Amino acid sequence: MLNNDIWPEKYFPKEISDIVGNPTAVKKIYDFVKNWKKQKIKALLLTGRPGVGKTSTVYVVARILDHEVVEVNASDVRNKDNILRIIGRSSLDNTLFSKGRILLLDEVDGLAGNQDRGGVSAIKTVLKSTKFPIIMTCNDLYDKKIASLRNDKLVTVVKFRPIKKDSVIKVLTNICKKEGIEAEYEAIMKIAENSGGDLRSAIMDLQSLADGKNALTYEDVISVNQSRNREEMLFNALKQMFLERDPQKIRNVISNTDVDWNLLLQWVNEQIPHHMKEMKELVDAYQFLARADIFYGRIQNRMESEVWSLLPYVIEDMSIGVSLSRTETPFRNVQYFRNNPNFYFANLGKFRRGPLVNACYKIREKTGKSIERVISEDLPFLSIILKNDKKKGEEIINAFGFDKPDIKAIINFEKIFN
Ligand SMILES: Nc1ncnc2c1ncn2[C@@H]1O[C@H](COP(=O)(O)OP(=O)(O)O)[C@@H](O)[C@H]1O
Ligand SMILES: [Mg+2]
Repeated sequence: MLNNDIWPEKYFPKEISDIVGNPTAVKKIYDFVKNWKKQKIKALLLTGRPGVGKTSTVYVVARILDHEVVEVNASDVRNKDNILRIIGRSSLDNTLFSKGRILLLDEVDGLAGNQDRGGVSAIKTVLKSTKFPIIMTCNDLYDKKIASLRNDKLVTVVKFRPIKKDSVIKVLTNICKKEGIEAEYEAIMKIAENSGGDLRSAIMDLQSLADGKNALTYEDVISVNQSRNREEMLFNALKQMFLERDPQKIRNVISNTDVDWNLLLQWVNEQIPHHMKEMKELVDAYQFLARADIFYGRIQNRMESEVWSLLPYVIEDMSIGVSLSRTETPFRNVQYFRNNPNFYFANLGKFRRGPLVNACYKIREKTGKSIERVISEDLPFLSIILKNDKKKGEEIINAFGFDKPDIKAIINFEKIFN
């Protein structure tokens, strides 16, 4: 079912004329399905980066030609037997109804990524006997693992190009009209530029900036960009920190970041499990981080000048200590994810007026952490423990001095932020 809360779904194209860009590709898909019985080609392989309309086009064409779509997300089906079972059956059994059918194998490069256990060869088998048109999609046509699909005589490749900036602007402007948002042209243009031709991400960006508002300014877009750039810079610094082996250099990377130490501790905390896989490494790294955290807590609690002398230890522990704990796991090029939900506390206002705030202050008093960190790091665990483990729960309740309303608030903490 379409979800109207999510704009890319709400504005899913319904007619051919709703699909922007790539007219040749769209026509090829239409003709392929329409003339399927009369031709040798059994399958199309649509290729192009995400968010350009590959999947949408298949659904539009199906609707217009009155076909049902049987969709198999290839990365859900991990091996040959499953593929043969699922696709094989739907490619053969004759529908009792006269309605046509399209088999859609979305993201076949994902399938091969799960150590191809004969997945590709199973698809090739199905191609020979299918009674219905098959349409596959992929992001990377030149992925070696799908080479034999790409070169199969029964398959034709159809390329989708990124959506041109002007077209992205048109779509976004249209959505703003429908949503009753007065948007500055420069704002829309900036979002379109950022999208790099990925229409889905452009629509998502527009929603995250403008949903529920009646105006959108260039400033709004820029300020989000800046915080994203900042996050990205910080992320790259941390990557460097985990890569370096020279203590002096490790410390410099971190000292030069110019961010709040609290935030940095939070990021390091999140990054450690991506960079270390061995238990011993993890234990070492978290021990260093815990010590940095305790020292920093002291600094924050007192703010007297003499405690600031602890800062070099905080920095050293969280940078050199943590990084050099990686002794076994080879360096991993971890990818940056934007919109890390841990860093969003959109409902802090509601929180401050609610019952959870007392509990958080009690935790802060004992741990010296900021309220934000108490929320993101401690509450998820405490709530699970209080729900499930009476004995441990009792210990925790005594240690922090929680009363009944505190306990109830912690157990239900997620609801407060929704
Ligand atoms: N060419 C396009 N025309 C209109 N809308 C598009 C187009 N491409 C993407 N979209 C929007 O983005 C969403 C996702 O597109 P989708 O077809 O799933 O892209 P892909 O399969 O190429 O990743 C659609 O629901 C639609 O809202
Ligand atoms: Mg898709």
